[in-house]
Amino acid sequence: MPKFEPKDRFYNKAKEEGYRARSAFKLQAIDEKYRLLKSGMKVLDLGAAPGSFLQYISEKIGDKGIAVGVDLQKIDDLELENVRTYQGDIFDEELYKKIVQENGFNQFDLITSDLAPKTTGIPFVDGNASLNLNLQVVEVARRYLRRGGGLVMKILSGFNEGDLIGRAKKNFRQVKKFRPQAVRKSSAESYIVCLGKM
Ligand SMILES: C[S@@+](CC[C@H](N)C(=O)[O-])C[C@H]1O[C@@H](n2cnc3c(N)ncnc32)[C@H](O)[C@@H]1O
Repeated sequence: MPKFEPKDRFYNKAKEEGYRARSAFKLQAIDEKYRLLKSGMKVLDLGAAPGSFLQYISEKIGDKGIAVGVDLQKIDDLELENVRTYQGDIFDEELYKKIVQENGFNQFDLITSDLAPKTTGIPFVDGNASLNLNLQVVEVARRYLRRGGGLVMKILSGFNEGDLIGRAKKNFRQVKKFRPQAVRKSSAESYIVCLGKM
């Protein structure tokens, strides 16, 4: 088993560059490969706390874009003009009504999800919890992602990922799996990148 290194090079890089978490470099790698984020985009980030995805997204979409972050945890104010945050559960319908009402639109250009369930250490239980979150993410994308838009979601590899990929393929023209370098070697995490919502 590779040694767990809590303070590896991505941890240090995040500190140096002012990111709240090393996860920002995972999104950066995905973005550099698939060219997802562009100036002026409206982006919904699910499972956004503490906020490093939002920090990266904010830079890329610029002052004409809007990033909306959602998490069960409170996201401490990022002090970024183009970022709005909501504390809530991705399964709560009222949350989306509030987001739509307060922001004045109901279609995003891109949805990102770094959602992770509270882990138990029992692979089957954690894998299923992650799958359930992602099935909901696909449902959110079906409703709140514009035609042609993209979706990025974190998965735990090996746990019913076929079901999820199958569901994604019904809604997107291209579905790819990608494991950024910033994912720890010991982690089962990967990302599914879905392009061209139908
Ligand atoms: C790995 S963290 C996200 C890190 C974040 N992308 C960043 O860059 O700072 C995963 C998050 O998913 C959130 N989460 C898990 N289940 C959720 C749910 N049902 N609704 C909203 N957020 C949830 C957790 O509270 C946790 O903050």
